[in-house]
Amino acid sequence: MLSDYLSSIQLFGSRNSIGLDIGSSYLKALQLKETKGGYELVLFDMLKLPPELIVDGAIIDSLRLVESLKELIRKAEVKTKNAVIAVSGHSSVIIKRISLPEMSEEELSESIKFEAEQYVPFDIEDVNLDFQILGPKEEPGQMDVILVAVKKDIINEYVSVVKEAGLNPIIVDINSFALENVFEINYEIDPDKNVAIVNIGASTIDINILKGGISVFTRDSSIGSNLHTEAIQRRFNVTYENAERLKRGEPVENVSPEDAQSVIESASGDILEEVARSFEYFLSTTLHEDISKVILSGGCALIKDFPGLLAERTGIETWVMEPFKGIKIPKKIDVAYIEEMAPMAAVAMGLALRRLDDR
Ligand SMILES: Nc1ncnc2c1ncn2[C@@H]1O[C@H](COP(=O)(O)OP(=O)(O)OP(=O)(O)O)[C@@H](O)[C@H]1O
Ligand SMILES: [Mg+2]
Repeated sequence: MLSDYLSSIQLFGSRNSIGLDIGSSYLKALQLKETKGGYELVLFDMLKLPPELIVDGAIIDSLRLVESLKELIRKAEVKTKNAVIAVSGHSSVIIKRISLPEMSEEELSESIKFEAEQYVPFDIEDVNLDFQILGPKEEPGQMDVILVAVKKDIINEYVSVVKEAGLNPIIVDINSFALENVFEINYEIDPDKNVAIVNIGASTIDINILKGGISVFTRDSSIGSNLHTEAIQRRFNVTYENAERLKRGEPVENVSPEDAQSVIESASGDILEEVARSFEYFLSTTLHEDISKVILSGGCALIKDFPGLLAERTGIETWVMEPFKGIKIPKKIDVAYIEEMAPMAAVAMGLALRRLDDR
């Protein structure tokens, strides 16, 4: 598994762990347990962060982030110490599909540093490396490998705030790969089809295109639904908080959600362009291929009409991800809240699945 190598943190202790998604706009915690009938939800909760705590994936105000994490842990009644976290593929993360001479996993573990050097634009001593062998290529003697390099700095930043908040970070994953887990347990995998998993949060777009369930293309961009918030703030001269309310369809002083709708739609344009450009790039590198569907997650999926606009712009059928589809929800948990927030829970779900998947 990719994430095992990402940091030198060992996988000791019990299998109990929470998925902790540290987004720039919301913290999310999600825990599952395995029962005879499949997975059951233990807890899911979120906490809104003030703006500018995390910018471009970097933690700007770690003290306040630690406080917020503690608040979420209290609110969600988290009883487990172990946490699986993730970083998004920002400037500190490199994910590349590369071609290498065929070799065993052990051999590649030995030589990965050397092989990776030419693909990683940072000092190789400053990154944690990981890889996944995707199997042989058509060319004899070659194999495809996904190479992941994450700057040690960014891992250390996230690990230390999580520790400060009283948790024990056991795995550092990548958003896009966490979403792959959710896809695997919830969706039928067609071996010949390309499916694009697109997660759009407040400040990131994570794209992962899977063929037959295996990642063939990833791209992350640092724009997101903050563009909507900023456009509303500028147009109506309202606070960040009020702009966020308008996005959720709530009226604020002098501005109705209907008024905000056209501003939201035009701000969606830049996000749609970014996704479409990434798809076009992917398609230009693969002959005779297409993308059969898009599975959309993240808060942007909750913006009115956004999934429809994405389908229209790309010409590809678009589904909003349902991470709780195959998960049993116990009676004491508020199903309405879970269903409403579902697309935003996707990354946390993928992280929560990590340990349970781990055999
Ligand atoms: N009900 C809603 N309707 C519309 N927009 C929403 C709704 N809920 C959240 N959003 C928007 O979605 C974004 C948050 O989504 P998400 O939780 O996926 O982002 P994040 O993980 O915090 O950010 P990132 O991963 O980019 O750092 C915010 O910009 C927020 O305004
Ligand atoms: Mg996110």
